[in-house]
Amino acid sequence: MSISIKNPDQIEKMRVAGTLASSVLEMISDYVRTGVTTEKLDQICHDFIVNDLESIPAPLNYNGFPKSICTSVNNVVCHGIPSEKKLKKGDIINIDITIIKDGFHGDTSKMFIVGKPSVKALKICSVARESMMLGIEMVRPGIRLGEIGKVIGDYARTKNCSVVRDYCGHGIGEVFHELPQVIHYDDGRIEQSPILEPGMTFTIEPMVNLGGYEVITSRIDGWTVTTKDRSLSAQWEHTILVTETGHEVLTLRDEERNL
Ligand code: MF3
Ligand code: CO
Ligand code: CO
Repeated sequence: MSISIKNPDQIEKMRVAGTLASSVLEMISDYVRTGVTTEKLDQICHDFIVNDLESIPAPLNYNGFPKSICTSVNNVVCHGIPSEKKLKKGDIINIDITIIKDGFHGDTSKMFIVGKPSVKALKICSVARESMMLGIEMVRPGIRLGEIGKVIGDYARTKNCSVVRDYCGHGIGEVFHELPQVIHYDDGRIEQSPILEPGMTFTIEPMVNLGGYEVITSRIDGWTVTTKDRSLSAQWEHTILVTETGHEVLTLRDEERNL
């Protein structure tokens, strides 16, 4: 199998799906407060996606995932399952939204800090975001995909943080997770990695840990991924289109437009 190149009609549908996914993160931000349960956030997002956006929440029943969004708190790296647990002051939470509109996926996530941010919380959230942005800025036709991962991994290391190796970004379109695999560190195989071409669409979604890169998957629910050393972890995600001259972020939020 090779990497799909989207035609102009498919690209327009990816734009719509991406914009709708980003609107869910904008909508939910007012509800991310001390005392709210992640289950409540899931329910609000589910209803908004289905009723207002007339879209499908892609995680629901995906390989058996039980909810419509992922909520990953503190040492949870990714794939946190919304639950009755309440957010408390100082928590950091990643909310990951994937919607399907007209057959195409938009996938994006961001960090929220609940209450007054601690120094550690601010650090890990900003290092993770900056690493994603540096990766996105690399994207243009002709570069090798592996160069994105190198930039992300090198930056995290300069900040004494580590990048998770067991999960990566992915091609996206009519399929949620398709080729290519977008690795967020230098695995020593840059020259073997694909050369980017206009019309490719994929996510960049580094998971960055304050401690080591090793992670554990819950044996209880089969989903929740945590840092092995219990250190804080943060993640940001955008869906990106390779254009003739560079890239377009398909999931950009209004708050990011003037950055
Ligand atoms: N949205 C996640 C990603 O960025 C995937 C979640 S899969 C789920 O690829 F099943 F956990 F929802
Ligand atoms: Co993704
Ligand atoms: Co996602």
